[in-house]
Amino acid sequence: MRILVVDDELSMREYLEILLTRAGYQVEAADSVGKARAAIEAGRVDLIVSDMKLGGDSGMSVLRAARAAPSPPEVILITAYGTPESAVQAMREGAYDYLRKPIDNEELKALVQKALEKREIVRENQALRSSLAPGVGRFLLGTSPSMRAVWTLVEKVAASPRSTVLITGESGTGKELVARAIHWKSARSGQPFIPFNCAALAEGVLESELFGHVKGAFTGATSDRAGLLVAAGEGTVVLDEIGEIPLSTQVKLLRILQARMVKPVGSSSEVPFQARVLAATNKRLDEEVKAGRFREDLLYRLNVITIELPPLRERPEDIAALAKMFLAQLAGDLGRPALNFEEETLALLQRYLWPGNVRQLQNIVERAATLSDSDRLGPDSLPPALRGEVDTHSGGEEPQLVAGFSLERFLDSQERRYLMHALRRAEGVKTRAAELLGLSFRSFRYRLAKHGLSDREEPN
Ligand SMILES: Nc1ncnc2c1ncn2[C@@H]1O[C@H](COP(=O)(O)OP(=O)(O)OP(=O)(O)O)[C@@H](O)[C@H]1O
Ligand SMILES: [Mg+2]
Repeated sequence: MRILVVDDELSMREYLEILLTRAGYQVEAADSVGKARAAIEAGRVDLIVSDMKLGGDSGMSVLRAARAAPSPPEVILITAYGTPESAVQAMREGAYDYLRKPIDNEELKALVQKALEKREIVRENQALRSSLAPGVGRFLLGTSPSMRAVWTLVEKVAASPRSTVLITGESGTGKELVARAIHWKSARSGQPFIPFNCAALAEGVLESELFGHVKGAFTGATSDRAGLLVAAGEGTVVLDEIGEIPLSTQVKLLRILQARMVKPVGSSSEVPFQARVLAATNKRLDEEVKAGRFREDLLYRLNVITIELPPLRERPEDIAALAKMFLAQLAGDLGRPALNFEEETLALLQRYLWPGNVRQLQNIVERAATLSDSDRLGPDSLPPALRGEVDTHSGGEEPQLVAGFSLERFLDSQERRYLMHALRRAEGVKTRAAELLGLSFRSFRYRLAKHGLSDREEPN
């Protein structure tokens, strides 16, 4: 993937170039709008990271040049502290996102990665449309029954134009990816997709960003401004981390979703909006309701359709495929097409509990690829936590404690791992594995079936 860095300041340009090159991308730099435009027109760019201030020029010109391209690259703008107006304007004109100075390296890298994923999904979608091939595309990968159920739901939901959808799941399970897939598969795909993090803002700012405000509504409101719900047009707005919005805003949001009308802060009249609203959270909203932190009526309004993303440890059959896909992507970016996992490495990945889910898997694959000199990634390319042989019974490592992961589920997953371990030790001979575990053959077979392991030829 190719990134264009645009900044008139040499030091900033160099800093961004080094940071992104180290992250494995192909980076080019431009010091003016003119040069940026030339690179865009030459079709050399997948993503642009541009400063908003470019001498006498503005990053908005770069954004507009990008949007005018036949296959528009994504654009991330960097704004100075305290200029939210220009950032929102940029979002409205189709920027992927913006970052405030001072730049946080990790935040930038995460944003770049997400923007490039979107670019892939758009391209994939174009390819899909032209080939009429069904399916969500390789970015929503998973062949486990639970993930296939998710894809089916995504397709159905994408086809229904208005319905609000609640996407739940632990951190890193792919909620945002699902939101994007719903958007890109829907008739709204030509319109803006606006992920909005509800946790990041104070109550007043949250409402004025979402609902808009009128001139004079508060100090600093120097003109009328449409909120994101209206600015998104016929597109999709994702209310990310919906569990974090204050109760008073919840009341308003409920009314707005029912009426499909929004009242800007300080205004007495309502305006209609067309955008589809998706909501995402890694909290258990039913528990938030019980604790009095979330309104039950809003939950009912949101969860007409719920897409629940299963944690990765509950679909171990997806681990190898995801790991291989991430490795293939990385290998392409790093120019090392021959990269592969050793069998043992894959086995270790499959045995791990993944408290950080798919995101953690992606990070660990990236780490392994970066550390390894050889084209075959051995177990030593994995962090120690993954290398411990069946860790809990060897006593070598603390079990990972994951919030919401009950003792029963923990024991269950340990049992599964222990069974697999025994099978491996017995080289697949079930009677021997049963013996190793001190179980009767019947009881062993019963447990294998319970964990869906019975028809496996090669346990790993
Ligand atoms: N099924 C999948 N196929 C391919 N990549 C995936 C899949 N699920 C998640 N990922 C990748 O894992 C990372 C995390 O996904 P995402 O940001 O959607 O998670 P999230 O549930 O929104 O997490 P959080 O709650 O922390 O915001 C992303 O880089 C995403 O591309
Ligand atoms: Mg997310």
